[in-house]
Amino acid sequence: MVLYENHLPSMRDGNGDGIGDLEGLIAALDHLAELGVGGVWVGPFFRSPLLDQGFDITDHCDVEPVFGDLATFDRLVAAAHARGIRVIVDYVPNHTSDRHPWFIESRSSRTSPRRDWYVWADAAPGREVPNNWTSEAGGSVWEWDEGSGQFYLHSHLREQPDLNWRNPEVRDAMLDVLRFWLDRGADGFRIDVAHMLMKDPGLRDNPVDPHRGDNPWDIQHPDFAGQLHIHDRMHPDLHEELRRIRAVLDGYDGDRVAIGEIEGMDWDRWARYFGEHLDELHLPFAFRLIETAWEAPALAAVLGELDDALPEGAWPILALGNHDRRRLATRLGRPQARVAAMLLLTARGTPTILYGDELGLVDQDVPVERRRDAFARATGGVSRDPTRTPMPWNAGPNSGFSPADARDLWLPVCVEYQTLNVEAQRADPRSSLTLYRRLLELRRASAALTAGDWERHAASDDHVLVYARTAGAERCVVALNLTPRARTVDLGETGDLLLSTLLDRDGRAAGPVIELRADEGVLLRTGGAG
Ligand code: GLC
Ligand code: CA
Repeated sequence: MVLYENHLPSMRDGNGDGIGDLEGLIAALDHLAELGVGGVWVGPFFRSPLLDQGFDITDHCDVEPVFGDLATFDRLVAAAHARGIRVIVDYVPNHTSDRHPWFIESRSSRTSPRRDWYVWADAAPGREVPNNWTSEAGGSVWEWDEGSGQFYLHSHLREQPDLNWRNPEVRDAMLDVLRFWLDRGADGFRIDVAHMLMKDPGLRDNPVDPHRGDNPWDIQHPDFAGQLHIHDRMHPDLHEELRRIRAVLDGYDGDRVAIGEIEGMDWDRWARYFGEHLDELHLPFAFRLIETAWEAPALAAVLGELDDALPEGAWPILALGNHDRRRLATRLGRPQARVAAMLLLTARGTPTILYGDELGLVDQDVPVERRRDAFARATGGVSRDPTRTPMPWNAGPNSGFSPADARDLWLPVCVEYQTLNVEAQRADPRSSLTLYRRLLELRRASAALTAGDWERHAASDDHVLVYARTAGAERCVVALNLTPRARTVDLGETGDLLLSTLLDRDGRAAGPVIELRADEGVLLRTGGAG
């Protein structure tokens, strides 16, 4: 399956208020079906004041009116299923909005029956706060609550208090949330910050990170990157909770999938999220791929490490972008973004495409007064809005994202929308959209590409990344020129050139020596029938 990340406010506006919604997503499904994806990860649409794009929830079991209602969700599921597309719902177990009735009750007094549903603490002796933990949004994770005279923990915005998963009532209530959406036909969940569920019960200080976690592609506050987050996340006890989550999914018919957001960690830790008996997450994201330098040796090493670390019987999920990172075509430039598309869709794993990446969409500058991302606003950090601008559908008013008479789109449309849009690219046989469609088509038709083994190819060098995928007699070879200069590789084997990222020399015999043009990737079948 290829997964499509739809950022709901940005996909398509169904009712003309300038913000994307579930009705709009229903209207977008034909595009997804034509692209050939097998699943859509919807993005949060639950009741929320929308300070963190819906990751700040006040009711996990209802739809925020700006996005639609439960009946629209039901129609979305039916319409997606009718097209063979699975619906993956966000599950945000770590925190709620501070306006959630649970938190309002929890903070109402120290003796409130829900006090222990969140993490409350006093300042450590001789210190101003309970410990040194820092928030992804910058500053301390501790917020003083004047009314009840204690601090509460928030790993993100202060308006996002963390739930206390050590309280069985919290856990049971949150497992019920899974059942609610599974009963309505959800095919699975993308679990938000799945590595954070449990915290050190002793609230011990985190050690300083000697490398400061420097990573230009991950948009995190420097306060956060300055420490090793071993006590406020990645706690060993969380695996038991993931098993409980998984057990709920396994209790339902069909393949209900648990996908997890697992951040910045070594391969051993990553592998643990599958569970010792493959009874935790089906698909923990491997973000290392996004964070790796775009150079052949580094990428070959990461793909090899991933393959080595993968537990027996497990399967990886891959992404080269998401709603929290700089866009692929901004990071690499448009020509290399096409090469990246070939990598993403031919490496071993379930590829995840961020909406708009199929067009080669780039980050769009958003003027300060129009920014939405409260993380950036609250902390002076980097705004994630440029990545999240509306999907351009056509060259008409509002780029077809909103009806022509809609005003005040929630974020500005990409300035290039008149040429860079779905309609224009659909008609262009060399467009990025056509490339994605062809790659998905070839992938579907090939056992080697969908399920085969991965192996670094001996022809891989400092500039050209070469690997092979094999299943039975079928063998595909992928050669990616990661540089803006022509390169020659000797594959030592011949075959049919199934696809060039430039879409102008498909279907010819090729090899053993291949001349790659600047920023060109090619896919060959060198063994077996198709
Ligand atoms: C995840 C989401 C991000 C959000 C954060 C807090 O990292 O991807 O967008 O801000 O969780 O919920
Ligand atoms: Ca709308």
